[in-house]
Amino acid sequence: MSCTVVVDGFYGDTGKGKIVSFLSIVDKPAIVTRTGGPNAGHSIEYGGKRYKLRIIPSAFIYEKAQLLLAPGALVNLKIFFEEMEITNTKGRVWLDKQTGIIESKHIEEEKTSSHLMGKIGSTGSGCGAAQADRVYRKLKLAKDFPELKEHITDVPLKMAEALDKGDVVIVEGTQGTYLSFYHGSYPWCTSKDVTASGVCSEAGIGPTEVDDVILVLKSFVTRVGEGPLEGELSPEEALKRGWAEIATVTGRARRAAPFNYELAKRAVILNGATQIALTKIDILYPECFGATKYEQLSSGAKKFIESIENKLKIPVTIIGTGPNTLHSIDLRKEKIYQS
Ligand code: IMP
Ligand code: MG
Repeated sequence: MSCTVVVDGFYGDTGKGKIVSFLSIVDKPAIVTRTGGPNAGHSIEYGGKRYKLRIIPSAFIYEKAQLLLAPGALVNLKIFFEEMEITNTKGRVWLDKQTGIIESKHIEEEKTSSHLMGKIGSTGSGCGAAQADRVYRKLKLAKDFPELKEHITDVPLKMAEALDKGDVVIVEGTQGTYLSFYHGSYPWCTSKDVTASGVCSEAGIGPTEVDDVILVLKSFVTRVGEGPLEGELSPEEALKRGWAEIATVTGRARRAAPFNYELAKRAVILNGATQIALTKIDILYPECFGATKYEQLSSGAKKFIESIENKLKIPVTIIGTGPNTLHSIDLRKEKIYQS
């Protein structure tokens, strides 16, 4: 259980942030490395506070964790400094010298693009434009900014050293498998590969170093922006079922559909997933709200979990039963690490 990669099996917003925050409390990682960019919003509720983070790793609540930003990640400096204040993490947040920096021209470029804002439904956070500049090899990197000097470290080396010592390292993915620009519903996707392999490549960790890939699946499917969504409900029906959500970054209403076993199965393959974290089971089965033990779940909820395990052939090891980090059931000891 030394290196764990956490990725999303649908279209983002399955609750990776909450799962990573829970893992940080239980597993006490030395390092948590965040990939992706500020197009992603991760929500964390802990210690009576609610955080919506776009850059700082969701594990910040575990105070001993070093919080790293991947060489392949994209950072908006204004948001970076703001979030470091909000989370009170100065001194333990580090960028790699090669981390990409989003500038206002990138945001401008996206916000005025009818292709991105209209057809694709981009978040307009400048990630795609910055990524394009990186492909052209003209994007500025963290090492080009004097104000970042004291925040720079060698991210891949730090992770390698921690793993050598037997410490726990978590790599936090962003968006979701079906927003991957290789494996998602192109062109309605993001500007990167956000599957486990893409995430590892961004972080600078080789595939043989990874012990577990936790695939986060929500108990129903949501999607923001354009693109196909099988079984999509009307906004009224989504509201009636309690599935109507608002996107963290853009404030747009998320589209909703029932849990999709076919997408989940394919996501297991694409990510080489070893375990599933199933979130928001309390939305389908309200009687399960806040449960912290498997025995507290209703028979309906247990049947749902069993059907997922039967179809996907890997264990559901973590179950989210509410928005708080501690509204979680951890079955890893029973199901995986039996000794
Ligand atoms: P972009 O990455 O901001 O250009 O957005 C491309 C597509 O991915 C749009 O449909 C966005 O709504 C979606 N998207 C980007 N980031 C996220 C995320 O973190 N969660 C969910 N959808 C996202
Ligand atoms: Mg999100």
